[in-house]
Amino acid sequence: MKIAPEAVWASSAAKLAGLHRQCFAQAWSEAEFASLLNLPGCTGWVCRDAGRFVALALFRQALDEAELLTLATHPDYRRSGHADVLLTCGEKALFDQGVERVFLEVSTANPGALALYARTGYGEIARRPAYYRDGSDALVLEKWLRKDGQTAP
Ligand SMILES: CC(C)(COP(=O)(O)OP(=O)(O)OC[C@H]1O[C@@H](n2cnc3c(N)ncnc32)[C@H](O)[C@@H]1OP(=O)(O)O)[C@@H](O)C(=O)NCCC(=O)NCCS
Repeated sequence: MKIAPEAVWASSAAKLAGLHRQCFAQAWSEAEFASLLNLPGCTGWVCRDAGRFVALALFRQALDEAELLTLATHPDYRRSGHADVLLTCGEKALFDQGVERVFLEVSTANPGALALYARTGYGEIARRPAYYRDGSDALVLEKWLRKDGQTAP
């Protein structure tokens, strides 16, 4: 399957919330997606299959830094490269906007996401003990998009 990410806007908030519900126990509402995507610097990306959203990523840029706000792939579409493609696509767009560093937070109880981020070049810079409701720690990870002459992702 060819994975072709595309930009998404606040007008798709209901579909984004629908996918989020299938991926997270504490999902974001349609209003939350709409509000985030209306913020300056917030960008969203999705992958579709037959018109249906199957993976999503949201980033927020502030000057030369950005945060990955959320990333999710529908359970039926996992381990097919969707999250990897969305990260690469989002990072490339941020790099083109002058972003040098991307941050994210991930639970120590999320081995799949930890493996994904390790593989895609994110490294740990901080830990927030017992940050999540399940008692797990949050790791703060960063990735430099432009360092020591490296080119775009
Ligand atoms: C984490 C998540 C986004 C990964 O999405 P995905 O589309 O399945 O990821 P990809 O197919 O792009 O995976 C790329 C690589 O990351 C690693 N990886 C991804 N999921 C993994 C898992 N469950 N276990 C181990 N490694 C994993 C692998 O190296 C994988 O490559 P491979 O399949 O060739 O081995 C998805 O499992 C998900 O939506 N989980 C629920 C929501 C969530 O936890 N989001 C992240 C919050 S920080």
